[in-house]
Amino acid sequence: MAIRTAAPAGAPASAYTAAATGPLARQDPEIAEVIAGETARQTGSLQLIAAENFASPAVLAALGSPLVNKYAEGYPGARHHGGCEIVDAAERIAVERAAALFGAEHVNVQPHSGSAAVIAAYAALLRPGDTVLAMGLPFGGHLTHGSPANFSGRWFDFVGYGVDRDTGLIDYREVRRLAGTRGPKAIVCGSVTYPRHPDYALFREIADEVGAYLIVDAGHQTGLIAGGAAPSPVPYADVVCATTHKVLRGPRGGLLLCGGELAGRIDRAVFPFTQGGAQMNTVAAKAVALGGWAAPAGAREAPPGGAHTPGVARGVWGGGGRRRPRAPRAPRPRGAPPRRAAPPRSGGGGLRGPDGRYGHPSHRGGPCTPGGGREDRTRPSGGLRAGPRHLPAPVRRRARDPAGNGRGHHPGNG
Ligand SMILES: Cc1ncc(COP(=O)(O)O)c(C=O)c1O
Repeated sequence: MAIRTAAPAGAPASAYTAAATGPLARQDPEIAEVIAGETARQTGSLQLIAAENFASPAVLAALGSPLVNKYAEGYPGARHHGGCEIVDAAERIAVERAAALFGAEHVNVQPHSGSAAVIAAYAALLRPGDTVLAMGLPFGGHLTHGSPANFSGRWFDFVGYGVDRDTGLIDYREVRRLAGTRGPKAIVCGSVTYPRHPDYALFREIADEVGAYLIVDAGHQTGLIAGGAAPSPVPYADVVCATTHKVLRGPRGGLLLCGGELAGRIDRAVFPFTQGGAQMNTVAAKAVALGGWAAPAGAREAPPGGAHTPGVARGVWGGGGRRRPRAPRAPRPRGAPPRRAAPPRSGGGGLRGPDGRYGHPSHRGGPCTPGGGREDRTRPSGGLRAGPRHLPAPVRRRARDPAGNGRGHHPGNG
């Protein structure tokens, strides 16, 4: 494979020399070349995928450390392998840092990805066949929110809510109506593309009205919440699913946050129900990233990303609550060949959006409400709800079956 490995002008040279000259280059020059090539691509061109970030050198050092060698099934102090005393410290530190940063009573830092965190949340609270209300995929719901191509759509009865056609905001009246008529066991609040802050208090209210769990999949905005640039769902949700590799700028992975009453169920849902041994190098790297967010703002390596998003959106779409309508096309001159419709994008079998197009909305930009800012119609506008370090008093969580009695065989009932 011919890969361009030369550093583009202005790119940091160290990134290239490490892969090109170290033990990796000696043992496996082919892969070393791939790494050097990808480093060149990342540093030599503009990266605009919102779900991506650049892990700091400290995070990369933890990822590439000998902790990768350690098997550690279980949790600190209760492992199925010997010799875990030292890696236990890494996990305890990660948990403590996440709990302090997000104001959560309980944290599980072991999910291997955002999807793994969502799987565990469902495993802890639901049984196969249960009805779940979540944002429909054409509107920005993630694959784990009921896609027929995903375990979620196969094992649960997902009902999708959407956004208001005129405002592009979540249609809370529809959420309430569907919750009332379908009686979901859980309501999922979270999206891949929705660029507003959901009204977590209203979601909580609706969930309580029908006795449903509220699962917030904050996979995208985890780092914004950590930096205080987005409101925290922690006081409202039964379980919050998070990722560590997006704005948080940590290693690829997930986190679960919940109240103390669900701690055991969540932990058992991660291990042993859906995962085996924790990846201790990743857990240590999560601790490093979380520690970076706890540092005073001036000392942080990663400024809160996304703060610029409203500006970008205004620049692209001209502000306001809706995508700017396309200018009308000029009439086709008589005799001119017919315009060809754009071919459907690949990779979205069955995921047809309201516009009739295929493909996961995250890959083609679903209905959106550019302009940024917080969507909370229950409060006066201006200013975000206090960030995670200034949390309002936790609301009462209404777990439907906190003891897990009589709920069948899922791990949370163990
Ligand atoms: C809301 C949401 N949930 C879950 C995920 C899944 O994360 P991962 O790709 O780490 O499995 C994503 C990733 O884009 C996401 O945006």
